[in-house]
Order: sequence, then C-alpha cells, then structure tokens
Amino acid sequence: MLIFYNSCQHCLSVRRLPALVVRYRRDFNVGLRKKMADMKLQAIILAAGKSTRFNSDTSKLLTPLCGQELILYPVALFAELKIPITIVIGYQKDAIIELINKKYTAIEYAEQQEHKGTGHAVLSAKNFFHAENILVMNGDMPLVNTAIIDELVQEHTQRKAAVTFVTADNADPSLSGYGRVIKEDNKIEIIEDRHFTGDKTTQYCINAGIYIFKRDFLEKSLDQLQENKQSRELYITDIIKLANITNNTITTVDVPFDKVRGINTLKELWIAEQIKRAELIEYWMQQGVYFPMAHTVHLDLDVTIGRGTRIGAGVQLLNGTSVGSLCSVEPYCILKNASLNDNVTLYAHSIVTNAEIHAYSQVGPFAHVHSATTIKQSAQIGNFVEISRTTIGQESKAKHLTFLGDATIGSKVNIGAGTITCNYNGVSKHKTVIGDETHIGSNNSLVAPLHIGSAVITGAGSTINHNVPDNALAIARAMQVTKENYAAQLKERYVYNQHVTQSNTSPQENVSEL
Ligand code: UD1
Ligand code: CA
Repeated sequence: MLIFYNSCQHCLSVRRLPALVVRYRRDFNVGLRKKMADMKLQAIILAAGKSTRFNSDTSKLLTPLCGQELILYPVALFAELKIPITIVIGYQKDAIIELINKKYTAIEYAEQQEHKGTGHAVLSAKNFFHAENILVMNGDMPLVNTAIIDELVQEHTQRKAAVTFVTADNADPSLSGYGRVIKEDNKIEIIEDRHFTGDKTTQYCINAGIYIFKRDFLEKSLDQLQENKQSRELYITDIIKLANITNNTITTVDVPFDKVRGINTLKELWIAEQIKRAELIEYWMQQGVYFPMAHTVHLDLDVTIGRGTRIGAGVQLLNGTSVGSLCSVEPYCILKNASLNDNVTLYAHSIVTNAEIHAYSQVGPFAHVHSATTIKQSAQIGNFVEISRTTIGQESKAKHLTFLGDATIGSKVNIGAGTITCNYNGVSKHKTVIGDETHIGSNNSLVAPLHIGSAVITGAGSTINHNVPDNALAIARAMQVTKENYAAQLKERYVYNQHVTQSNTSPQENVSEL
C-alpha cells in the first residue's frame, strides 16, 4: 500500500504541515540530538559533482557564502545534530577534504570514481552504510536548518516509511534545475527539469534534495537503479519510482522553498547569500544591534556584535570579526578578523583587518588599520592614517595623514600630521619605539630602527634618524633663511622669466603646455 503525506499544494494534497519556524541560530536542544541518536541515523552528503553550471574553475562547494564554504553548511548541520557523516567526494576532492579536516574530525569519505549522477554517488558510498536509516543530502544547500531535519526525521519515524523526502513550492517557475514532484494516480515520482515535457510556466512542487531511506530498502533499490537514457546518469530520485513499484511507503515533508534552495549557478549563490545575510541581520537585530540601512550591510556567519551597537550603511563585517557593545561602525567600513571592544567609534570608510581596537577608541574616517595592530583604550586615530604591525598606547593620538609601521607607541603620545615611520629600507623592516607622553611634531620622518624616549618633543618637519633620550627636544631640519623686503624683487623676476619664456614659445606649444 502506497501512502503519501504532507504534500504541498501543487500535489494531490493529503495534509499540509504548518509552516516551519525558521530561525537563524540553530536552536539546538539535547532532546533533538537524542532523537537523532535513537533513530540510528547516518548522513551521506553528496559532494562529488563537477559544478558545471557554476562556470568556475573551483567547485561550487568550495565557494564561500557569508564567509563559509558551501560544503561546510551541511557538515556543520549534521555535526551539530551529532549524526555521523559520510561525504561522497570526486571533483576537487583533495581541496574538499583539506577544508573539512581543518574543522571536523571523524568524517568518512567515499570516493565516486566516475561522475555518473546522484544515484551513482550514493551507490559509491554503499560500503560505508552502517546505520538503520540513511539520510542523503545534496552538498549545495546552505540554508537548511535543524528544524527541517527534525521534521523529516519525525515524519519518517512516525510513518515507518521506506523513504521520506523534502519538498517545497517553487514560487518562481522560471527557476529551472529542480526535479518536479508529480503525484498522480496514487503514484509519486520525481521528474528532472531537463526531462520534463509538460507546461513549465506554472508554479510547481520541487524535490529539495534531502531524503531519508531505510537502509535495506536503499541498498536493494541502488542495485536496481538504471541509467537515464538521455543523460547516462543514475538518479537518486528514480528510487522514488522504484518505491512505487515495490509498494513501499513514501512520505514527504513540505518546507519553505527559501530554506532548501540549491546552488547551481552564480545567480543562485547570490540569491542564497542575500537570504542568509537577512537571517543573520535579523538575528543580530533581536540581540539589540541597530542597522539603519540593513539592506546594504554584509555580515559573515561567525561575526559577533554587542548590544546597543549601530552598524551603518554599506558596512561589511567579515570572517573573524567581533564588535563590542555600544560601538558605532559608520558607513562603508570593512572589518575582517577585527576585534572592537565596547564603545569604539569607527568613522566612515575605515578598513580594519587583523587588528584589535580597545574600548573608547576612535578610528577614521578613511583610516586603514591592519596586520597585527593593537590600538589601546581611548586612542584617537584620524583620517588618512595607516597603521600596520603597530601597538598604539592608551590615549595616544595620530589624527591626520600618517603612516605608522612596525612601531610600538606608548601612552598619551601625540603623532603630528603627516608623520611617517620609515620602516623599510628596501630589504628589511625595522622597528620604531616611542615612549609615553612624547610629542612628535608634524611631518616628521622617523627613520627606523629608532628609539625615541618618553616626554620627548620633536620639531615639525624633522627627519629623525638617531635615537632620542627621554625628555629631549630633537629638531632635524634645514635652517630657515629670511631675506627682508626681498619678496617684491623676486616676484618681478618671476614675471620677467615668464615673459621671456612665452616669447620663445610658439602658440601651438603654448596650447599643449596648458
Ligand atoms: C538534484 C535533484 C533534483 C533536485 C535538486 C535540488 C537528482 C537527479 N536531481 O538536481 O531532483 O530538485 O537536486 O537541488 O538528484 N553530485 C555527486 N555526484 C554526481 C552528481 C552530483 O556527488 O555524479 C552531487 C553534487 O556535488 C551536488 C549534489 O550531488 O552536491 C546534487 O547534484 P546537482 O548536480 O546539483 O543536482 P541538481 O541538478 O541540482
Ligand atoms: Ca543542485
């Protein structure tokens, strides 16, 4: 006897599930984990495909979405649920294994030697089957959450089905590439988009690409799978047809389409990233972070932001970034692997990478702080200042047009406008050390290696290339010459010179000089 449950509205509907509660943070609970363990479940992730439609030299599964590579999404999902994972690899397998092994252990890899379709991929993992139920999922579905897996597992268990799979309403019929779930005459089958000959303009029910099979049913069915005549591939979806023939129970779970979008093309990657980004922003809004222009902001998955912080238009918070509470990150700042403590203000258009900014400091606009730099509490870094491999002490200031590289700067130091550390001699980099409460005049060139003591003053425009002891004044610039009443004479000479030059120049040349 064939039974279908939970069909979507485009199929012969028996019962429609209430909409899933979709949350970004995986609301993982111990009960859910235990349920998965009781079910004796194993997950097979299909990741051997060639990504042909992605039109790139890199497997789509190695491409990041909100800072995390696509293949890591299903791995993280099953790892969180404590479901043992086997990954079917093939195309760019070494890179995929290397990436996953950086974060996860105890994962098995089954190799698909030839690229012969999703059914063949599952067949390649057959020797790895060890659980009573085998959950198969495409590797290119980054938006799936634990709630969907929970629904699927529940449905499969309650109905004692041979196979349960996830479906959704495809709200946009112009989106091709999905298998259509057709339920007719008490039969259910999945017809791949490329083989579907009916009306392609109507909304339809899609196969999401997540299935649970009873292991013995799957093993038998895999042996019976036949190549599709047109593509010469084995389709996992044809197992549904086999379940019809053998009168096995098939059930489905209908979920929101946005949660099960697959990624075959760059456009689909872009769409999925927008959805994930919106989920992340919604989550952080719930935590008390204000995004006045939320639709322009990009957040990566592992970013954290404190309560009461304001994130301006066009800001990008990328991998490894944490922003404290009550901070202001003004428009168009980019932060990567950056750590901002509480009450930091980052003015517009600043870039902070691999750097730490302590509480109450102010940085920017147009500042570039990078490469293992630490800015300590209540420091002020102003516009057009670049800081690299440097520590800036508490309450120190470098407010205008400055480059500080390989420097250690004490507290309450003032770095005058236009000052630079000359840290690189073309071969190697050298350090500059400046003691507490020193005042570096404007437009200084500090030639490293250099040690300037505490409470020092340097004259504006100095090129300092010798160490300066504590409390000293250092001036290193050409002596000024003043010739009284000489300005008018000089001006006359300029006018005369200009006249001579012009009379020696053809009109044509004059034009080109302009
Ligand atoms: C598949 C389904 C389709 C479903 C859609 C959902 C089949 C035949 N079709 O189509 O019904 O609507 O997913 O997104 O299954 N892979 C391998 N080895 C292969 C081929 C693919 O491991 O030989 C892997 C891919 O790396 C990918 C996954 O299987 O992660 C799905 O393959 P893909 O080519 O994207 O399938 P779709 O055409 O999207
Ligand atoms: Ca796909």
